[in-house]
Amino acid sequence: MIVNVWDDWNSNSKTNFITAVVITGGASGIGAEAARLFTEHGARVVITDVKDELGRNVAVSIGEDKVSYVHCDVRKETEVESAVKFAVEKHGRIDVIFSNAGVPEPLLDIRDLNLEAFDRVMAVNVRGAAAFIKHVARAMVEKKTRGSIVCTTSVASVIAGTVVPHGYTASKHALVGLIRSAAGDLGKHGIRVNGVAPFGVATPLVCEGYKIKMEASELEEIFSETANLKGIVLKARHVAEAALFLASDDSAYVSGHNLLVDGGFSVVKN
Ligand SMILES: NC(=O)c1ccc[n+]([C@@H]2O[C@H](COP(=O)([O-])OP(=O)(O)OC[C@H]3O[C@@H](n4cnc5c(N)ncnc54)[C@H](O)[C@@H]3O)[C@@H](O)[C@H]2O)c1
Repeated sequence: MIVNVWDDWNSNSKTNFITAVVITGGASGIGAEAARLFTEHGARVVITDVKDELGRNVAVSIGEDKVSYVHCDVRKETEVESAVKFAVEKHGRIDVIFSNAGVPEPLLDIRDLNLEAFDRVMAVNVRGAAAFIKHVARAMVEKKTRGSIVCTTSVASVIAGTVVPHGYTASKHALVGLIRSAAGDLGKHGIRVNGVAPFGVATPLVCEGYKIKMEASELEEIFSETANLKGIVLKARHVAEAALFLASDDSAYVSGHNLLVDGGFSVVKN
């Protein structure tokens, strides 16, 4: 169990330095769980999302002294720039960005591909992450922060299959390319860039994507049946823990990596 992953950073500070984290898509699912986990480890978090009421509720439920909510549609560069500015003004710097906002897409045969839905998934999952990396990297370099950038990719970033939509799969493969490319550029500034790649987690994204109305427990049962690793159900918390590892100095020399949290699913053929 990691007690306080940022102890070293804190002890180097002149004043009461607190690790500042920005989480996109923080109003729900993996992002909301990450906000909870990161604050448990002493961080101060700015969550951004388009679901304002949900986002504000997450901040209130964790404690507004630890978490602030800011509206930001990752598709709009001006809103991304403002959210980054807000976080820097509030905390003096940004140490970690967890670029996690993502959308699903209807599951269709390639012959029926909906190109509007394809554009939307690319705009959020790839372009949105690129916008955040751009503006956070500027802030980190300006403040000489040896920061960590973590993006939520997916098991669909390394494999493809008939149950995951085409645009979604393409977006997550592209995101890995972006992570590697940014890691190459930002290494000279001491900034690391990595991905965390989960298998299925029962969150609103999955229900929305597949247009299914079912309880999280039912969805988890379906995931568990197809999973490689038995006896454990993947929860948002497990993904948040992997993101915390990549955000912290426990992974100090890890960059350009896409950490699979898939229980071995992608390396076996069932
Ligand atoms: N749940 C899974 O099975 C699974 C598996 C692999 C990867 N992922 C990835 O995990 C990430 C988090 O998804 P989740 O499962 O927690 O789903 P979720 O729907 O609970 O959370 C995604 C959040 O992103 C926000 N968002 C969507 N469009 C946005 C935009 N334009 N600007 C800002 N925020 C926006 C949503 O409002 C939502 O709060 C996504 O990138 C997703 O692709 C999820």
